[in-house]
Amino acid sequence: MDRLTNGQRERVESLLAQMTLDEKIGQMNQESPSIVGGFDVPFTELIEMMTDGRISKEEFEKIMSTAKQDYHEDEIRRGGVGSLMVQDPVKVNELQKIAVEESRLGIPLIFGLDVIHGFRSVYPIAIAEAGSFDTDLMERTARMAAKESRASGVAWHFAPMLDVARDARWGRVSEGPGEDPYLGSLFARAKVRGLQNDRSSAENYVAACLKHYIGYGAAESGRDYNTVSMAMHVFYNNYLKPFEAAVDEGAQTVMAAFNDLNGVPCTVNRFLLRDILKDSLGFPGFVVSDANAIRECVVHGIAEDDEDAGVKAALAGMDMDMGTEIYFKHLKKAVEDGKVPVGVIDEAVRRILSVKMWLGLFDHPYVSEEAMNRYATLPDEHVRLAREAALKSIVLLKNEGGLLPLSRDRKISLVGNLADSREEIIGAWAMSWREEDCVSIRQGMEEMFPGTRYFPCGGPEGDIVMDDVLRAGEYGDVIVAVLGELVSMSGEASSRADISLPGRQRELLEMLLETGKPVVLVLMNGRPLALEWENLYVPAIVEGWQLGIEMGHAVASVLSGEFNPEGRLSSSFPAVTGMCPVYYNHMNTGRPASKSKFTSRYLDAPFDALYPFGYGLSYTQYEYSDLEVADAGDRLEISVTVRNTGSREGRETVQLYMQDAAASLVRPVKELRGFRKAELAPGQAKTVHFELKKSDMGFYDNERNYHLEDGLFRIFAGGSSRDCLAAEIRLKF
Ligand code: GLC
Repeated sequence: MDRLTNGQRERVESLLAQMTLDEKIGQMNQESPSIVGGFDVPFTELIEMMTDGRISKEEFEKIMSTAKQDYHEDEIRRGGVGSLMVQDPVKVNELQKIAVEESRLGIPLIFGLDVIHGFRSVYPIAIAEAGSFDTDLMERTARMAAKESRASGVAWHFAPMLDVARDARWGRVSEGPGEDPYLGSLFARAKVRGLQNDRSSAENYVAACLKHYIGYGAAESGRDYNTVSMAMHVFYNNYLKPFEAAVDEGAQTVMAAFNDLNGVPCTVNRFLLRDILKDSLGFPGFVVSDANAIRECVVHGIAEDDEDAGVKAALAGMDMDMGTEIYFKHLKKAVEDGKVPVGVIDEAVRRILSVKMWLGLFDHPYVSEEAMNRYATLPDEHVRLAREAALKSIVLLKNEGGLLPLSRDRKISLVGNLADSREEIIGAWAMSWREEDCVSIRQGMEEMFPGTRYFPCGGPEGDIVMDDVLRAGEYGDVIVAVLGELVSMSGEASSRADISLPGRQRELLEMLLETGKPVVLVLMNGRPLALEWENLYVPAIVEGWQLGIEMGHAVASVLSGEFNPEGRLSSSFPAVTGMCPVYYNHMNTGRPASKSKFTSRYLDAPFDALYPFGYGLSYTQYEYSDLEVADAGDRLEISVTVRNTGSREGRETVQLYMQDAAASLVRPVKELRGFRKAELAPGQAKTVHFELKKSDMGFYDNERNYHLEDGLFRIFAGGSSRDCLAAEIRLKF
């Protein structure tokens, strides 16, 4: 672990030398509090019995009333647990005290949790925040989450999620930074810095966990957990990039993905875990499995039983077992039978102890009373940051006839159940927020527009309330419809085969349009949606995503024009689901899609994304000119002029793309290689400069050889991956 002092490294070695085999294996065992008591079937079975109706909800609750949480205190006392998923600081201290004061060697536990986009102060889901194209913001929100969670004893975030994802049917696209490896890499670096780098106090930083290693976002047909097959040049040039960047930035842990990659589950994939991650990238931290993933290797068909799966995982480089107790129950015998060398165990334990040492857990294992209460009331600074992140993540998709912004004296019929929810604004994987900190869109709108009246009308599930629709059509001179998905419709195990607006929401929109009043559609969703119909008929569309605790204030601020929307899309939106996967950095093929018949097109759908990567409108307009590209030796010097041709100030995200036009492997039609914010007053023009290192213009082949090949390149600059100026240059490397 090359981030330890010599003294710390010596402490780790000395501890390791004293440990029994049982104690070593204990460090490799992560437990979750399990429900035990009143029933003679595993808890998961009990849940299924209720889900499939074998027992009623009432019977389930009666059984549960006799249950208790098992925190594995006895195993902790015997040194048999290395980590737990617990977030209550009082319980954390209680369990930590057992480990530190009652186990033989007093090795502290590391408490981990899914803190993906905030702890108490929840900020936008990653797909939204990545669209801010503001890496400083991404870092600041991560630092806020680290400080808040460490004050509860959670020193390990199962974040950032770095899965490049191109298929919006996959529900977990919500948790990551979108379809582009360059933006994903900058997001990754920013998050690792934010989580790990403020080491002024053990209370300010946590260990990051890069997940899900790897290729999970390419699950076939967008179905979660599904098999993944891909050419290795696609792997190296896209899916590995954010992980490579984050390891280089100093990430302390990695979580392996559930899926198989080209036939070998990541959990037991020696090539991925040892050859690439630990050897080639030099990753010094530890790898944890995903929940239950070691046991699932039997289901995959790569292991005969639990012990076989455990042996294969340990040999492949899996250092910690999340939630199966397979290491705890079988690894000792595997070592004694000579199936797993003790050196493999020592290496895993050394990595785990080193991260605990790096976190300061040996010297500061407990949460202070003061820290526990530090965020009982959210500091204004944290609320402001959550609002800044929400504002910068909103994307204006359509604004026909300048319907937006709305003057604050307008009579607004606010429609949609989602508008009145303080839960649905939070997004997937947030579990430490409090409702009193959450601002619904309804609250935000009523504060900003006194003439707002709310009419539920309906939402992602259930029927349309006709009376509400009629009253909404009568009252407002404009209708703001908040529609989209429930949080439960994206995130893990939430793939959708049809990613249009769920339920009867399109029908509701049609009824609202039939009132004759102008309709503004505000989307609350966790993935790109198929919006061909909405884009045709709804005059204004705002992508609101799930923005966290300050969503209501942010949406109202944008609709009123108080804040000029500047978010861009980190993921392409299809017109219809059948186009998925759709992404901007695709190969050209020999017959690129066009109106001609014999090209790569659909008979029944458009071939281009409805809204492409990098796209987003403003309340002003921008024009680009004078793209200049100069060969300056080891780099290109690029400049482009952008002018604000509209009537109000704005912040434009100027984007730089490249294309290797002829290479020994086909290359994408565009690859993002830079972006800059340009603040422009009405009429103002700025020339924006980029430096593109020639060493960054290459690509990996299937054997991971990096190629910089002489020849023709194209450079693009503009306001999205589709709207760009282009220039050509011939390069010699
Ligand atoms: C889940 C998810 C992973 C999460 C882990 C712990 O199954 O795949 O992202 O960190 O389990 O909750």
